[in-house]
Amino acid sequence: MEPVLEIRNLNVDYGLGDKAVRAVRDVSLTLHKGEVLGLAGESGSGKSTLAYGMTRLLAPPGVITGGEVIYHPPSGQAYDVLGLSDRALREFRWAETAIVFQGAMNSLNPVHKISTQLTDVLRAHEPKMSEHTRTARAREMLKLVGISPDRMDAYPHQLSGGMRQRVMIGMALILQPQVVIMDEPTTALDVVMQRQILGQLIELRERLGFSVIFITHDLSLLVEFSNRIAIMYGGRIVEQAPAATIYRDALHPYSKGLLSSFPALRGARRELAGIPGSPPDLAGMPAGCSFHPRCPRAFEPCSSAIPVLGRPDVPDGAGRSVACWLHPAEQTVG
Ligand SMILES: Nc1ncnc2c1ncn2[C@@H]1O[C@H](COP(=O)(O)OP(=O)(O)OP(=O)(O)O)[C@@H](O)[C@H]1O
Ligand SMILES: [Mg+2]
Repeated sequence: MEPVLEIRNLNVDYGLGDKAVRAVRDVSLTLHKGEVLGLAGESGSGKSTLAYGMTRLLAPPGVITGGEVIYHPPSGQAYDVLGLSDRALREFRWAETAIVFQGAMNSLNPVHKISTQLTDVLRAHEPKMSEHTRTARAREMLKLVGISPDRMDAYPHQLSGGMRQRVMIGMALILQPQVVIMDEPTTALDVVMQRQILGQLIELRERLGFSVIFITHDLSLLVEFSNRIAIMYGGRIVEQAPAATIYRDALHPYSKGLLSSFPALRGARRELAGIPGSPPDLAGMPAGCSFHPRCPRAFEPCSSAIPVLGRPDVPDGAGRSVACWLHPAEQTVG
């Protein structure tokens, strides 16, 4: 599969000098054309920091301290997003990549009609487009995300939470970006609504052909809707595999813990085991594997040496990677 976005050895810190804490540690991750990549991990594991870092939307004191983010446009040469000028970056953010933020549905402007907010995006990025075409495009976009075009002239407060969320997704898609990043866009909504909206997004992806990075706590959603899942812990990717493989046979004890934190999709209800203990403090990361103090399977090397993320020593090891001493990497993968 062709890559669309390649994150290589990305490091993100909060703060400078000896006060700095590293929230994203040496992350390498590839998003392929047309795929849905799920990113999961407990609160504070660095998911949003990674999303903001790779699109250079980090607010101070966040700083990118290393790495590359290689973007492959539909035509032309691949380039490093981290090296773009501010102007090129603005264009990249909307036209090539769009983010729907955590809590985005509350970020619609309350004093403007949703039609105006949609056409404003087009006005800013496609100044040559006629007013008529803009309105038609906005109408079509609303229809795509499941909102009747006769709600075009509604103000945000006249819409339900789910509808506002759909409008945000419409705004993200209206310039037909190649990559859509969703950072828990649906947490504030009920579970049925979450599923519905996510299902609709996947359908749109099949029609419009963009790729998705979807960030959530809800691993059951990812198992259902994503092609591949990457699991983050303490700022690192600790496991990555096709969604079905993770569900069936996660290798990292942390991934297993996350999986047992939600009820089985089908069959008998399981006890929600969860993971005892709490996520590591960035200012005092444990030596070795940062999960070892909470790990039920920790043994001698875990407290002293950091396991590298690589292809595990299992029969179906191709296409998956894990950073765990139980499955030492045969070969590192990007
Ligand atoms: N502005 C900031 N200043 C200092 N530290 C920060 C800042 N923002 C985030 N952090 C720290 O960086 C780490 C990663 O935070 P991040 O928001 O990326 O986690 P997350 O995985 O998105 O969590 P959640 O699931 O709760 O959204 C956390 O330990 C957090 O405390
Ligand atoms: Mg977050």
